[in-house]
Amino acid sequence: MLAGKPKIDLGVNIDHIAVLREARKINDPDPIMALGICTQAGADQITIHLREDRRHIHDNDAYRIIASSPIPVNLECSIDSEIISIVCSLKPHRATLVPEKRAEVTTEGGLDVSGSYQEILNSINILKESEIEISLFIDPTAQAVEMSKKLGAQWVELHTGTYANLYAMRHSALPHSHHAIESLRLSPHELDARLLEAYEAIRNAAEHAQRLGLKVAAGHGLNYQNVTQITSIDAITELNIGQSIIARSVFTGLSRAVLDMKELCKR
Ligand code: PXP
Repeated sequence: MLAGKPKIDLGVNIDHIAVLREARKINDPDPIMALGICTQAGADQITIHLREDRRHIHDNDAYRIIASSPIPVNLECSIDSEIISIVCSLKPHRATLVPEKRAEVTTEGGLDVSGSYQEILNSINILKESEIEISLFIDPTAQAVEMSKKLGAQWVELHTGTYANLYAMRHSALPHSHHAIESLRLSPHELDARLLEAYEAIRNAAEHAQRLGLKVAAGHGLNYQNVTQITSIDAITELNIGQSIIARSVFTGLSRAVLDMKELCKR
């Protein structure tokens, strides 16, 4: 760590292990097996998303993970009243409120903090009664930061998806998301300008939030290529990263997995 630079905590989003399990609808791989490995490797937090449709993480996963995690658990959830009451009974260290659409592949944008102000406030008040720390997953804009402060959140998590997509379009042949293909028509010069704009929006929102006394996390689409630029923003003290870590672990762990099976295949 550079002298004088604030430390950045890493929250590892382990939903992606449940995504693999649900592809087969069996018990393997069990996301709970990741807790010890992530903790030993230096993760500061475990992040999971209890979706309304329970398509990845189930109630029982959330219950077991929160009960046995050696490090704090950040539970992402929508503002649906039934979900909020489950979250209160699960008592994670933190709840991150996120927008949720049934048809989406992953969380597509930040919360509509103005349009859904009253519903978000009701959820925050209920969660606070259970002494759960609150974070709001928002787009990196001054207005969303200010509304989050007004709503009484302790944290904001800035959505880095636009930055991640533009970064991938600029630096690799394919966009980060298959949904962003139309933007491939932009010239490298236009992409550079858009990428800088997306980065500065994150930096400005992070610094604004810090000035207002909010703690600042960021996440979505961060990977081994694009994360360094985000770590240069001192106001951001936590990153929540899932897909790229679990994706890399498939390859870094494959050799051991084949060796173990090869050993069992010996007569
Ligand atoms: N933060 C939030 C609020 C998210 O919804 C997600 C995606 O589940 C992440 C971070 C992690 O994103 P990724 O899996 O792209 O690293």
